[in-house]
Formats: sequence, structure tokens, C-alpha cells
Amino acid sequence: MTDEIKKIERAAKAEIPKAKTADELQALKIQYLGRERGALTLILRGLKQLPEKDRAGVGKEANRLRDFLESLFEKRGRELETQIIESTLKKERIDVTRPGVRQKRGHLHPHTIVLREIENIFGSMGFEVAEGPEVETEYYNFDALNIPAEHPARDMWDTFWLRSNQKEIRNQKSEIRNSKERLLLRTHTSPVQIRYMEKHNPPLRIIAPGRAYRYEATDASHEFQFYQVEGLMVDKNVSIANFKAVIEEFFSRLFGTRVKTRLRPSFFPFVEPGFEVDITCTSCTKLKIKNQKSKIRCGVCKGGGWLEIAGAGMIHPNVFKAAGYNPKHWQGFAFGMGLDRIVMMKYKIPDIRLFHSGDLRFLKQF
Ligand code: FA5
Repeated sequence: MTDEIKKIERAAKAEIPKAKTADELQALKIQYLGRERGALTLILRGLKQLPEKDRAGVGKEANRLRDFLESLFEKRGRELETQIIESTLKKERIDVTRPGVRQKRGHLHPHTIVLREIENIFGSMGFEVAEGPEVETEYYNFDALNIPAEHPARDMWDTFWLRSNQKEIRNQKSEIRNSKERLLLRTHTSPVQIRYMEKHNPPLRIIAPGRAYRYEATDASHEFQFYQVEGLMVDKNVSIANFKAVIEEFFSRLFGTRVKTRLRPSFFPFVEPGFEVDITCTSCTKLKIKNQKSKIRCGVCKGGGWLEIAGAGMIHPNVFKAAGYNPKHWQGFAFGMGLDRIVMMKYKIPDIRLFHSGDLRFLKQF
């Protein structure tokens, strides 16, 4: 029996320190000390069958070995645990000197970038920013702007009328009672002029940026949903000269180069006189000198040197009346420019439809 114990001890001493994993160690523990069939357990269980004189000696020896084996298992267990911790630490080590992974950040849409610049420039000239609803009444979009129903000028703006509203009105079993009740998607930002003047007393200076909608076919420079920036200045002695000064200063600062304007007579029912505003083409002012020799036509202004950028004019007395101002006391200019086209010029974007195309290759450039 003593020989048997010595054999177990030798084998255990050789095997236990070589266990490579916690599972291997556990398997060895079962092999030697397992409750059912552990090698040492069987010896301890067999003590009863030994002659009385040998029992105490063998029992003592077997118990010593059990304590010894337990300490061996514990020691190896601790070693394995330390190894695991060390290798995990090695694997998960963070090298703080390595360059970081750049996080992708969102960025502003070109409309927003330019609109913020526009607001800053006009803000520095004393203009506040005003807003109005995109779903507008016929009254504010047309009537109050001196464009009564049946007026041929309404054809200038192909309108998205809102059907639901007409149904509601019909449900009320009345004829369309007056034009104020019909709803539409505003065709321009000019209704904000009336809404603002109704609530504020002159003198005033505002710009009103926002979306406008027109029921028309799209092409490279026309969308059915686009942005305009309305401008309005009302005071005692406001003249076209003031308008020219403001608009030239504005465009020069926006494009970072001296810009000249040209006013061409035009018709808008809410202004008198009315004009189209052209500015000198910023895309080819630098090219012009070269172009004189090479005869290359600028793609933006088609070589003409001028770009149509806004409608404008002196506020019509009927508009002042509709807003509750006395036209004999107040004068003012108003303008409406296409934001999309300004952004297109600034960034040399060839097609207005790119703005809402959702094409990330386009958007990532800004
Ligand atoms: C108007 O909408 C007038 N309300 C402007 C105005 C305001 C005149 C105050 C006088 C006083 P017009 O339809 O020309 O005018 O539009 C003004 C600008 O909006 C155009 O010069 C153009 O830059 C832009 N625009 C018009 N239609 C579209 C469209 N379908 N897509 C993109 N931009 C457009």
C-alpha cells in the first residue's frame, strides 16, 4: 500500500505542474482526489481492509499525501490564474501612442452654410430674420400682394393648391366664401412681407428665408421646391439707390469680390417700379481677361457677364394698405432672390437637382 501511495505521489508531482489549463487541472484533481474513483480516495477507502497494525501508518501517509496534493493543485491553480490575467492584459493592452481612428462627423448642407453667411451679412446691416408658414392662404400669397383672383399675373406662379382644404370648405356647405380661406404651398416668400408688417410698425428691415413651391417641370435651374430669401426695408425716405447700395454690398461680401448690379425693368404686382436684378458674373470675372484671348464662354453666365439673381422693386401702395401702413408716410424696397442659384454660383454647382438628390458623393464635398 505504501508503495502504491509513493507511486501516486510521483505521478502527481510530475503531472500537476504540467497542467496547461484550468480544465486539465480539474481533470487531474478528479483523477487523484475525485470522490468516486480518485486514486488516493480509493486508498483511503481501503484502509478498513488493512491489518490493524498497518492501518495507522498507511492512513497517516495517505492523509499527508492528500494535504500535499491539495496544496499542489492550489499552487498550480494560482499560477494558471496569473497566466490568464497576464495574457489578457497583454492582449487588451491599449497603445495610447497609436494614432486614433477619426470619427465621421456630420456637416452642414450647402444651403445652410450659405444661408448662415447671408443672415450674418444682412444682420450686420441691421436686418432681422423673419419667418412665415409654408402652407399659406391665398390671401397672403396673392391678394394682399396686389394679385387678386382672375388677375393674369397669377399665371406667373404655378401653384400647388391644397385639395383637403377645399373639401373641408365644401363640407361646410358654403361656397368658397372668400379667397382668404383657400390654402396653398406658398409660391414665394413674399407673403412674409405682409405677415411681418401686420405685426410690426415701421421703420423695419428684415430678410425672410424659406422654402417656396411651384407646380412646374424641373430642369438644371428649376425645382418644384426651392429656397428664396425675401428682403424688406421700410422707412421714411427709402429709395432705389438704398436698394442698390444694400444689394451690392451684400453680394460683394458674399462672393468676396466687388460685385456690380444692373436693374432691368420688370413687372411684379406688389412693387412699383419693379425690376429684375442682375449681378456681374463672379465665375468669370477672373476668367474674362483670359477669355478675351481664348474666347472660352463662361458656363455660368454663358459669356454675357451678367446673372439674373432676384426680383425686386419699390413696395406698391396697395401692399402697404393691405398691411395697414399709410403709403403716404412710408416707402420701402422689397426683393426676392433664389437661394439655390446663389449657392450654385458660389460652389459652381451645375444642376439644382443635386441639392435634394441624396447623393452622398455630392454632399460630402461641403
Ligand atoms: C418672385 O418670386 C418674387 N416674389 C420676387 C420679388 C420679391 C419681386 C419682392 C419683387 C419684390 P421670381 O418668380 O422671379 O419672383 O423668383 C425670384 C427668384 O427665385 C428667381 O430669380 C430665382 O432665383 C428663384 N426661382 C424662381 N423659381 C424657381 C425655381 N423653380 N427653382 C429655383 N429657383 C427659382
